[in-house]
Amino acid sequence: MNILSPSILAADFSKLGEEIQAVDQAGAEYIHIDVMDGVYVPSISFGMPVIKSIRRVTKRIFDVHLMIIEPEKYIEEFVKCGADIITVHLETLKYPEEVIKKIKKLGVKVGLAINPETSIHALEPYFEMIDMILVMCVRPGFGGQAYIGYSTEKINRISELIKEKNLSIDLEVDGGINENNIENVLQAGANIIVMGSAIYKGNVVENTKHFMKILKEYKEY
Ligand code: DX5
Ligand code: ZN
Repeated sequence: MNILSPSILAADFSKLGEEIQAVDQAGAEYIHIDVMDGVYVPSISFGMPVIKSIRRVTKRIFDVHLMIIEPEKYIEEFVKCGADIITVHLETLKYPEEVIKKIKKLGVKVGLAINPETSIHALEPYFEMIDMILVMCVRPGFGGQAYIGYSTEKINRISELIKEKNLSIDLEVDGGINENNIENVLQAGANIIVMGSAIYKGNVVENTKHFMKILKEYKEY
């Protein structure tokens, strides 16, 4: 099933609750929440208090993307604040297996993210242990960047590997997804589509409905 995960990083934070309710009511299944620490990535976004407050405004799945060093220190807190899926960056983990287990034990889904420069080989040993793979299609840190073209090949290859291994892992794509490339990433095998600027610039409800329609009507060819 294809799922839309609007990234609130591109929302107007002065009315964050309304911005979330708008995508919720327009049908988006997930809310993508980008946590940045200013160390792993060059910018700082928001953390637990914000997630805790927005938990009250929607029942949608909280898809929490941690762009922070030592994420294992904060996992329990994020679960308490209402995360349903926690995605950590493979590049930040000394002992990936332990962190994966820790997240699972808390009863939430676990995702592993890789940056554009990180090879698929680094990810392969963990395929059997995770619920989701997140392929970064821009360098993490900011919304509104241009999609890096070679990501498509990576998505393709990961999707093939998932099929070869007979697994049911979700494949999420994040960064620079818009009207012009959404069909390409779907065709390459992605099924969870993160969109920040493409949703929050302009009419949020119309944008959400538009991309939901594309996702629901998309058929592999
Ligand atoms: C980038 C974040 C993305 C970002 C996507 O570091 O992980 O989730 O918000 O925004 P757009 O869709 O504008 O590239
Ligand atoms: Zn993200």
